Amino acid sequence: MKEYGTKTYGELNAERYDAMYEELMAAETRDSVETLAELAGGGKVLELAIGTGRVALPLAARGLSVHGIEASQGMVAKLREKPYGSAIPVEIGDMAEVRVNGTFDLIYLVFNTIFNLTTQEAQVRCFHNAARHLNADGLFVVETVVPDLSDFVDGQRMKGSWARMDSARFEIAIHDPVVQTVEFQRIVISQGGTQMTPHFMRYAWPSELDLMAQLAGLERRVRWAWWDRSPFTADSKSHVSVYARTGSSVHRPPA
Ligand SMILES: C[S@@+](CC[C@H](N)C(=O)[O-])C[C@H]1O[C@@H](n2cnc3c(N)ncnc32)[C@H](O)[C@@H]1O
Repeated sequence: MKEYGTKTYGELNAERYDAMYEELMAAETRDSVETLAELAGGGKVLELAIGTGRVALPLAARGLSVHGIEASQGMVAKLREKPYGSAIPVEIGDMAEVRVNGTFDLIYLVFNTIFNLTTQEAQVRCFHNAARHLNADGLFVVETVVPDLSDFVDGQRMKGSWARMDSARFEIAIHDPVVQTVEFQRIVISQGGTQMTPHFMRYAWPSELDLMAQLAGLERRVRWAWWDRSPFTADSKSHVSVYARTGSSVHRPPA
């Protein structure tokens, strides 16, 4: 998907992002904020791909100093419309590249967004950029799904959401196992016409993310299956991975 750039997700989704996810993710947001606040230990926090502030605003409401990086002006405009949304400093740019003043006790990248970087090189650069902004005893947290390719047949998957008298919604996904990308197109056909929402992602296995961390001078301290800190197992569908500088004596998270 050549035309899909770092700003595309926001351009396509900023208007409806909160309506799509605020309620759906309420429990997840609460649990993630709880754990991230504990990991921050009262220190300075940086969210990569801060979006409309779903996680950043409740963290700031707990008294933490929260900063952000975000590719999409449209997503940040939505953050700015919210109470206290103007108080969060946000650097517009690519989280794999952009520099922010200062260093942080906690940096986090949640909701599968590491996969929005669509090449392995960009994902590696993102780990380097996070490491560059970490305090000596800082933590970098990545939350994402464990890739699941089980329902792809011949590199393709088609899923329907509804088929009504006057409309249908379905999603087609094309998998490239060589570069680990999936191209999605979500299509709604109705009497009003056809609406298409593309999405493009590069997945990485948990072990590959650990290797990216190593390349950036980080090591994994813990991997949970979810924000409730349940143990990560072979059956886990997602993971919350906490990285620190290799050899650092940071005591968060608790053993
Ligand atoms: C799924 S949303 C997550 C937003 C927010 N972190 C949350 O959890 O609600 C993905 C976000 O990543 C942003 N994004 C995508 N690629 C990016 C990049 N290369 N650099 C910075 N932000 C990026 C999008 O604009 C969007 O705001």
